Amino acid sequence: MKCLILYCSSHGTTAKAARILSEQLEGIVERVDLSKFRDPDLSTYDAVIIGGSIHAGNIQRKIKQFVNKNHDILLTKKLGFFLCCYRDGDEAKSQFENAFPADLRAVAKSEGLFGGEFIFADMNLIERIIIKKVAGVASDTSTFNVDSIKKFAQTFNQAS
Ligand SMILES: Cc1cc2nc3c(=O)[nH]c(=O)nc-3n(C[C@H](O)[C@H](O)[C@H](O)COP(=O)(O)O)c2cc1C
Repeated sequence: MKCLILYCSSHGTTAKAARILSEQLEGIVERVDLSKFRDPDLSTYDAVIIGGSIHAGNIQRKIKQFVNKNHDILLTKKLGFFLCCYRDGDEAKSQFENAFPADLRAVAKSEGLFGGEFIFADMNLIERIIIKKVAGVASDTSTFNVDSIKKFAQTFNQAS
Protein backbone atom coordinates (compact mmCIF):
# COMPACT_ATOMS: atom_id res chain seq x y z
CA MET A 1 0.00 0.00 0.00
CA LYS A 2 1.41 3.36 -1.05
CA CYS A 3 -0.21 6.36 0.56
CA LEU A 4 0.04 10.08 -0.17
CA ILE A 5 -0.70 12.69 2.49
CA LEU A 6 -1.42 15.93 0.70
CA TYR A 7 -1.81 19.08 2.78
CA CYS A 8 -1.60 22.84 3.08
CA SER A 9 -0.48 24.56 6.27
CA SER A 10 -0.33 28.30 6.88
CA HIS A 11 1.68 28.27 10.13
CA GLY A 12 2.82 24.66 10.49
CA THR A 13 0.11 22.94 12.53
CA THR A 14 -1.31 20.90 9.64
CA ALA A 15 2.24 20.06 8.55
CA LYS A 16 2.91 18.74 12.06
CA ALA A 17 -0.33 16.72 11.95
CA ALA A 18 0.66 15.27 8.57
CA ARG A 19 4.07 14.25 9.95
CA ILE A 20 2.61 12.56 13.05
CA LEU A 21 -0.02 10.84 10.90
CA SER A 22 2.63 9.56 8.48
CA GLU A 23 4.43 7.93 11.42
CA GLN A 24 1.22 6.12 12.44
CA LEU A 25 0.24 4.75 9.03
CA GLU A 26 1.24 1.35 7.69
CA GLY A 27 2.97 0.90 4.32
CA ILE A 28 4.86 3.45 2.26
CA VAL A 29 3.75 6.98 3.10
CA GLU A 30 4.75 10.17 1.28
CA ARG A 31 3.86 13.72 2.28
CA VAL A 32 3.42 16.63 -0.12
CA ASP A 33 2.84 20.25 0.90
CA LEU A 34 0.60 21.50 -1.90
CA SER A 35 1.51 25.13 -1.21
CA LYS A 36 5.19 24.43 -1.98
CA PHE A 37 5.17 21.70 -4.64
CA ARG A 38 3.37 21.04 -7.91
CA ASP A 39 0.34 18.78 -7.99
CA PRO A 40 1.51 15.18 -7.53
CA ASP A 41 0.58 12.39 -9.96
CA LEU A 42 -2.07 10.41 -8.09
CA SER A 43 -1.86 7.37 -10.38
CA THR A 44 1.09 5.93 -8.40
CA TYR A 45 -0.80 5.89 -5.04
CA ASP A 46 -3.33 3.39 -3.66
CA ALA A 47 -4.44 5.72 -0.88
CA VAL A 48 -4.73 9.50 -0.61
CA ILE A 49 -5.26 11.51 2.60
CA ILE A 50 -5.98 15.21 2.22
CA GLY A 51 -5.72 17.78 5.02
CA GLY A 52 -5.79 21.52 5.51
CA SER A 53 -6.59 24.20 8.05
CA ILE A 54 -9.39 26.73 8.42
CA HIS A 55 -8.91 30.48 8.14
CA ALA A 56 -11.96 32.76 8.19
CA GLY A 57 -14.21 29.74 7.80
CA ASN A 58 -12.51 28.17 4.78
CA ILE A 59 -9.89 25.58 3.95
CA GLN A 60 -6.95 26.66 1.75
CA ARG A 61 -8.06 27.39 -1.85
CA LYS A 62 -5.30 25.13 -3.24
CA ILE A 63 -6.85 22.15 -1.46
CA LYS A 64 -10.31 22.95 -2.84
CA GLN A 65 -8.93 23.38 -6.35
CA PHE A 66 -6.90 20.16 -6.18
CA VAL A 67 -9.87 18.13 -4.93
CA ASN A 68 -12.19 19.54 -7.61
CA LYS A 69 -9.64 18.93 -10.39
CA ASN A 70 -8.93 15.35 -9.26
CA HIS A 71 -12.41 14.45 -8.07
CA ASP A 72 -12.91 11.40 -10.31
CA ILE A 73 -9.50 9.81 -9.68
CA LEU A 74 -9.90 10.45 -5.92
CA LEU A 75 -13.08 8.36 -6.02
CA THR A 76 -10.94 5.37 -7.07
CA LYS A 77 -8.54 5.68 -4.07
CA LYS A 78 -8.65 4.67 -0.44
CA LEU A 79 -9.48 8.13 0.90
CA GLY A 80 -9.13 10.08 4.13
CA PHE A 81 -9.71 13.73 5.07
CA PHE A 82 -8.59 15.80 8.04
CA LEU A 83 -8.74 19.35 9.25
CA CYS A 84 -6.94 21.55 11.75
CA CYS A 85 -9.05 24.35 13.24
CA TYR A 86 -9.73 25.95 16.63
CA ARG A 87 -13.52 25.61 16.62
CA ASP A 88 -14.98 22.36 17.92
CA GLY A 89 -18.35 20.60 18.08
CA ASP A 90 -20.96 21.46 15.44
CA GLU A 91 -19.00 24.47 14.17
CA ALA A 92 -15.96 22.31 13.45
CA LYS A 93 -18.20 19.68 11.82
CA SER A 94 -19.79 22.29 9.60
CA GLN A 95 -16.36 23.67 8.57
CA PHE A 96 -15.28 20.10 7.75
CA GLU A 97 -18.37 19.47 5.63
CA ASN A 98 -17.79 22.73 3.79
CA ALA A 99 -14.11 21.89 3.18
CA PHE A 100 -14.54 18.54 1.38
CA PRO A 101 -17.22 17.40 -1.13
CA ALA A 102 -20.03 15.25 0.28
CA ASP A 103 -19.63 12.38 -2.20
CA LEU A 104 -15.91 12.01 -1.40
CA ARG A 105 -16.56 12.23 2.34
CA ALA A 106 -19.18 9.51 1.96
CA VAL A 107 -16.59 7.00 0.71
CA ALA A 108 -13.72 8.13 2.96
CA LYS A 109 -12.30 5.48 5.30
CA SER A 110 -11.23 8.03 7.94
CA GLU A 111 -12.21 11.60 8.76
CA GLY A 112 -10.47 13.64 11.45
CA LEU A 113 -10.61 16.93 13.32
CA PHE A 114 -7.19 17.39 14.89
CA GLY A 115 -7.70 20.69 16.75
CA GLY A 116 -5.65 23.82 16.19
CA GLU A 117 -2.93 26.09 17.51
CA PHE A 118 -2.56 29.83 17.89
CA ILE A 119 1.12 30.70 17.95
CA PHE A 120 1.32 34.49 18.05
CA ALA A 121 5.00 34.65 17.10
CA ASP A 122 4.10 33.03 13.75
CA MET A 123 1.27 35.47 12.94
CA ASN A 124 1.43 38.81 11.22
CA LEU A 125 -0.11 41.91 12.83
CA ILE A 126 -3.45 41.59 10.99
CA GLU A 127 -3.78 37.95 12.03
CA ARG A 128 -3.05 38.81 15.67
CA ILE A 129 -5.74 41.49 15.66
CA ILE A 130 -8.28 39.14 13.99
CA ILE A 131 -7.60 36.32 16.44
CA LYS A 132 -7.86 38.58 19.48
CA LYS A 133 -11.16 40.00 18.19
CA VAL A 134 -12.81 36.89 16.70
CA ALA A 135 -11.52 34.09 18.93
CA GLY A 136 -10.96 36.20 22.06
CA VAL A 137 -7.48 34.66 22.37
CA ALA A 138 -4.51 36.84 23.31
CA SER A 139 -1.75 34.32 23.98
CA ASP A 140 -0.51 31.02 22.56
CA THR A 141 -3.23 28.37 22.76
CA SER A 142 -3.45 24.78 21.56
CA THR A 143 -6.24 22.23 21.13
CA PHE A 144 -3.99 20.09 18.91
CA ASN A 145 -5.08 16.51 19.50
CA VAL A 146 -2.55 13.73 18.92
CA ASP A 147 -5.05 11.09 20.11
CA SER A 148 -7.39 12.06 17.26
CA ILE A 149 -4.53 11.60 14.81
CA LYS A 150 -3.77 8.15 16.24
CA LYS A 151 -7.45 7.14 16.04
CA PHE A 152 -7.64 8.36 12.44
CA ALA A 153 -4.57 6.28 11.55
CA GLN A 154 -5.87 3.19 13.35
CA THR A 155 -9.21 3.35 11.48
CA PHE A 156 -7.43 3.98 8.18
CA ASN A 157 -4.96 1.10 8.69
CA GLN A 158 -7.79 -1.32 9.49
CA ALA A 159 -9.95 -0.32 6.49
CA SER A 160 -9.63 -2.31 3.26
C1 LIG B 1 -6.14 34.56 10.84
C2 LIG B 1 -6.70 33.25 11.34
C3 LIG B 1 -8.03 32.93 11.10
C4 LIG B 1 -8.56 31.71 11.59
N1 LIG B 1 -9.88 31.41 11.34
C5 LIG B 1 -10.39 30.25 11.84
C6 LIG B 1 -11.77 29.94 11.62
O1 LIG B 1 -12.53 30.65 10.96
N2 LIG B 1 -12.24 28.77 12.16
C7 LIG B 1 -11.44 27.93 12.90
O2 LIG B 1 -11.94 26.91 13.38
N3 LIG B 1 -10.13 28.19 13.07
C8 LIG B 1 -9.59 29.35 12.57
N4 LIG B 1 -8.27 29.63 12.76
C9 LIG B 1 -7.43 28.68 13.53
C10 LIG B 1 -6.56 27.83 12.61
O3 LIG B 1 -7.33 26.93 11.86
C11 LIG B 1 -5.55 27.10 13.51
O4 LIG B 1 -4.68 28.08 14.03
C12 LIG B 1 -4.77 26.02 12.80
O5 LIG B 1 -3.96 25.36 13.77
C13 LIG B 1 -3.90 26.55 11.68
O6 LIG B 1 -3.19 25.49 11.09
P1 LIG B 1 -1.98 25.76 10.07
O7 LIG B 1 -0.87 26.37 10.85
O8 LIG B 1 -1.64 24.42 9.54
O9 LIG B 1 -2.53 26.66 8.99
C14 LIG B 1 -7.72 30.82 12.30
C15 LIG B 1 -6.36 31.14 12.51
C16 LIG B 1 -5.85 32.34 12.05
C17 LIG B 1 -4.39 32.66 12.30
